[in-house]
Amino acid sequence: MKYFILKIFLKTIGRLSDGVKIGWRTGFDSGIMLEYIYENKPRGFGPIGRFLDKLYISNEVWDGVRSRREFLIKQIQEAVASFEKPQLYDLAAGMGSYLFFIDRDKANITAGDFEPEAVQRGNGKVSEAGRHDIKFVEHNAFNKDSYAVQEADILVSSGFFDILVKDEEIKTILKNGSEITKKGSKWVFTIQEHHPDLEMIKKTMIDLHKGDWELVPRKAEILTEWAKEYGWELVKLERNEFFAVGTMVKK
Ligand SMILES: C[S@@+](CC[C@H](N)C(=O)[O-])C[C@H]1O[C@@H](n2cnc3c(N)ncnc32)[C@H](O)[C@@H]1O
Repeated sequence: MKYFILKIFLKTIGRLSDGVKIGWRTGFDSGIMLEYIYENKPRGFGPIGRFLDKLYISNEVWDGVRSRREFLIKQIQEAVASFEKPQLYDLAAGMGSYLFFIDRDKANITAGDFEPEAVQRGNGKVSEAGRHDIKFVEHNAFNKDSYAVQEADILVSSGFFDILVKDEEIKTILKNGSEITKKGSKWVFTIQEHHPDLEMIKKTMIDLHKGDWELVPRKAEILTEWAKEYGWELVKLERNEFFAVGTMVKK
């Protein structure tokens, strides 16, 4: 009953908050939602909207997402520094603002996503920033033939394993990523290990497919064990309360 009331609240008054409004439009786990969370600036309709937005974006899990991004940026920068102008391919970049922290022209950066709005807005940011080394492209990470890059030195998957419900989906991504990389390639990933209230998000919010937001937290070790089968070895892992960010190297 309490979740029913919360859902009605979020669908009505909650929409005064820009963040909640984006959640209903794109899914609360979309790349566009995450970019709004990274910006961390309360916005909404009038003082009540801004107040509700502040409550929403200050949620502890969103704090965890912002802290995860710090780990991610550092690990991507380290991976890039270990190559001479590598080809980096992000499998589900969303608007991928973290990619803009890579020094200009140090890598060829291709950012794939299946959401046209994220790709379009990502390329808008590329033009604004005058970055000729970053390109956003539409692809489906489950279909390797749709990939814009068929040989990558660095793979990135941030917030992607986190949103996959079925283990088999993660294994397909591991297989696809492994097929476009070689010995010495690196894979920088995030995974959600814990969420304080899975029932609440399932009963009150929607995911990017517009269904109930079903989240399956998994320990990073589960993922790295599956990845071993394809030759990946974990070389770095950082954690906060909810997320792990790691780098694997292909042996
Ligand atoms: C939680 S967001 C993460 C976005 C970004 N990587 C980040 O960490 O801020 C998940 C992203 O996965 C993308 N996505 C989901 N399924 C996909 C698929 N099959 N192929 C490509 N992208 C996909 C979504 O469009 C969304 O941008």
